[in-house]
Amino acid sequence: MKHRNLNLFYITTPIYYVNDLPHVGTAYTTILADIFNRYHRLFGKKTFFLTGIDEHGQKCEQVAQLKKMDPQLYCDQMSAQFQKTWKSLHIDYDLFLRTSSLQHHEVVQKVLKILYDKGDIYPSTYKGWYCVSEEIFYMEKDLVDKKSPTGKEVIYLEEKSYFFKMSKYQQSLQKHLEDNPEFIKPSYRQNEIKGFLKKPIQDLCISRPKKRVSWGVELPFDKDYVAYVWVDALLNYVTGVAYLRDEKEFTKWWKEAGAVHFLGKDILMTHGVYWTCLLMALDLPLPKNLFAHGWLLNESQEKMSKSTGEKLDPLELIKFLGVSELRYFLAREIPLGNDAHISKPLMVQRINQDLSDQLGNILSRLSRLVETNYDGKIYKPSGQEGEIFKDQAENLSKQVKEDIENFKLNQALDKINEILSKVNRYLEQETPWKTVKTNKKEASCVLYNSLEVLRICGVLLHPVMPEKMTKLLGVLGEEVSLDSLKWGRLPLGKDLKHSEPLFPKIHL
Ligand code: ME8
Ligand code: MG
Repeated sequence: MKHRNLNLFYITTPIYYVNDLPHVGTAYTTILADIFNRYHRLFGKKTFFLTGIDEHGQKCEQVAQLKKMDPQLYCDQMSAQFQKTWKSLHIDYDLFLRTSSLQHHEVVQKVLKILYDKGDIYPSTYKGWYCVSEEIFYMEKDLVDKKSPTGKEVIYLEEKSYFFKMSKYQQSLQKHLEDNPEFIKPSYRQNEIKGFLKKPIQDLCISRPKKRVSWGVELPFDKDYVAYVWVDALLNYVTGVAYLRDEKEFTKWWKEAGAVHFLGKDILMTHGVYWTCLLMALDLPLPKNLFAHGWLLNESQEKMSKSTGEKLDPLELIKFLGVSELRYFLAREIPLGNDAHISKPLMVQRINQDLSDQLGNILSRLSRLVETNYDGKIYKPSGQEGEIFKDQAENLSKQVKEDIENFKLNQALDKINEILSKVNRYLEQETPWKTVKTNKKEASCVLYNSLEVLRICGVLLHPVMPEKMTKLLGVLGEEVSLDSLKWGRLPLGKDLKHSEPLFPKIHL
């Protein structure tokens, strides 16, 4: 896309169904999107982070009915729960979008009207299957053992419906994929969409009769129908940045920044095909990237989900591990894009190893030495003596920035971890706790160089662990900014007090 403004960054998460509370899978997507957003902000961009909830549709209507609640009231309660959970996980979004909000509703109706007037929406009869749990239409040929391809129940439907001329955009979409090999990431996921597009695609049923589902956005051209929930939901990505409401704001985020849609691989098809075709029909540019991550799996190697099997509750996990610790684990342990089995023992092992034994331990040992032997004052050695890790640390910042731009989050964290191991080895070799008794000057040089690396790592880890790294940088007397990534910013003459263990060891 031409005219991109590289100083802007716009990231979204899927908007989650409210049939149940957030679980560790939805928390994973939201935490990672938050981390990317914070990194881009740290590296100097203006950012916009959109998340929210998908409130309409049969699935939600059914749950509300089961609870004998008005769907709006039910959604209001769930909305509060979702926001509370995100707050507890230190998610710093710019907008929490609700599809039942009036603003969203109005724009969805305007969009449907535009497409209808253009002739891209037409009435016909739908004959086929529907999966309520996924809110997806299936053709007979798509079913596996009379169920959805992922094994969910389906129901047969035969009814008058409205259709979106999705097939009209198949070729343009194919061309877009050919011309933009970076569009769908990781790159191996492109093939799923390309493969799907090899056969002629069907038009998309975009309506549900009110007599079957009434909880949704009414079609502006037929009051007996509501919009199919996926059409309503996908549009959140543009209604959230003021589409058809504030042209300037919309241009800034949708066109100049270009959207990065961060999502799970389960919904790549709806984004890669439905959404892109809808955008083309609206003459809007396509997003900058679709990044599809893998699934968190439970003990039986199944996708953790709201509806089946064992699930980990993020609120319970943070009581046990700590918020920063959970965020770190999810970002560091799982190669982004892959499926991964997660469990408490794995979490405890990773957190103790990287955070308690290494990062926290370095801080605690060094701050104690400075407090007791130097009256809390750090001395800066002159010249190259004070620049032992300068090149490595500054190079690290560059590499982390590059990795983040390429969605290589776990690699970035590997590198930060590596330099901290190096500092650990350097300390073991130099033993400042011994030298301080005979050569205070030499020992202070070792302390300075190590603390400076620690400080820079603190800044680089801040997007992952905002709370704990704010504490760490508080001890070292520095703030988080692009400038603070430069070597030699450790405030001198500050009273450095021994830090309480930042990451107490966790026991299973
Ligand atoms: O699909 N591992 O909502 P949803 C990793 N409303 N990520 C997981 C996961 C797991 N085990 N389980 C869930 C919907 N997720 C639609 C989206 S967007 C316009 C509409 C995450 O509540 C992952 O991001 O089923 C997945 O794509 C999303 O939750 C699905 O959430
Ligand atoms: Mg789902």
